Amino acid sequence: MNRSCNSNAYFGLMSLFMLSVAVRSELTPYFYMETCPDIFRIVRTEVQNALKNEIRMAASLLRLHFHDCFVNGCDGSLLLDGDGEDSEKFATPNLNSARGFEVIDIIKSSVESACDGVVSCADILAIAARDSVFLSGGPFWYVELGRRDGLVSNGALANQTIPSPFDTLDTIISKFNNVGLDAKDLVTLSGAHTIGRARCTFFSNRLFNFSGTEEPDITLETNMLSELQNVCQQDEDGNITTVLDQNSADQFDNNYFNNLLNGKGLLSSDQILFSSDEATATTKSLVQYYSYNERFFLMDFAYAMIKMGNINPLTGFDGEIRKNCRVVNSE
Ligand code: HEM
Ligand SMILES: *[C@@H]1O[C@H](CO)[C@@H](O)[C@H](O)[C@H]1NC(C)=O
Ligand SMILES: *[C@@H]1O[C@H](CO)[C@@H](O)[C@H](O)[C@H]1NC(C)=O
Ligand SMILES: *[C@@H]1O[C@H](CO)[C@@H](O)[C@H](O)[C@H]1NC(C)=O
Repeated sequence: MNRSCNSNAYFGLMSLFMLSVAVRSELTPYFYMETCPDIFRIVRTEVQNALKNEIRMAASLLRLHFHDCFVNGCDGSLLLDGDGEDSEKFATPNLNSARGFEVIDIIKSSVESACDGVVSCADILAIAARDSVFLSGGPFWYVELGRRDGLVSNGALANQTIPSPFDTLDTIISKFNNVGLDAKDLVTLSGAHTIGRARCTFFSNRLFNFSGTEEPDITLETNMLSELQNVCQQDEDGNITTVLDQNSADQFDNNYFNNLLNGKGLLSSDQILFSSDEATATTKSLVQYYSYNERFFLMDFAYAMIKMGNINPLTGFDGEIRKNCRVVNSE
């Protein structure tokens, strides 16, 4: 059975393989084909139910997958309740911010009733993120599966590795590089801010006294600036939110990039992709490209999500399949 006897067929197969599996990985869309054949239908139904209840949940679930993958790889560590204040849930990027944990619990228990002890919480996050994007009008992709769940939640690491909205562009690019993603992936994945909301805490630094200038951020469009000043002045307990994409808050489209061209990015970390000095040599041209090429944005987004979903997965005998996404299995 020498493969070279059949070299044409073999190379044909190889190139097909490279196209379908965008990123070289141990993960595969078929991982549960025998052990949990209904997995996609089950997750889809529960995500649909959650969105009927609250449309924003699509954004919240998508963000959970991102915050999971940037800390110790996509291993479900974000879901662990862990040791209180040392856990990822309590780290600065997540505290009073990451949401959707109850929805993940519901999905997990539906999945467990169909296939007990088979599907990892990390994979549930990846499928829920895909469904959230697709049900919001975004692209579909075949989610690669086979991740196992990690045993530790590392809040201190989450503080360091998840990008902050106050970081410079160079810092954000390094944080992406550190997990194997490049500046292009940064621009593409930032397009996730076409859905969802943000609290004033994360952008009010731009509204009055930006970087100690005693002036607002000059890259923020003036009408939007006054609206945001109004919204955030009423924010006493720090919980008031506004939409990340003013044009189409719940629709997964390329308006995020149109906004950036018009000075209407909400977070500093959004607007700097287009307006900062560093952007000229790195991210600006891609922002422009996506703003007039929605199709390419949607296609690249699907590809970049597969790439992000492949950050350092636990496979084989590493980690475990958690029974309850909030706690590691007992011995
Ligand atoms: C590039 C660096 C990024 C920074 C600095 C950043 C920062 C933020 C911040 C501060 C919020 C608001 C959170 C709140 O107010 O509670 C937010 C929301 C959100 N982020 Fe990002 N983000 C980044 C990249 C990403 C990526 C790569 C994704 C997904 C692929 C993503 C998906 C989301 C979504 C969907 C929301 C809305 C969540 C909701 O409404 O519950 N972000 N982000
Ligand atoms: C994360 O950073 C915040 C703010 O500096 C700090 O209060 C918190 O203790 C840090 N978390 C961990 C687990 O180190
Ligand atoms: C603006 O910020 C700078 C630096 O953070 C600070 O020194 C200054 O007092 C602030 N100005 C006002 C009016 O709050
Ligand atoms: C507001 O946010 C704080 C933390 O910033 C939280 O403890 C509190 O429960 C929230 N209040 C409301 C009314 O949601």
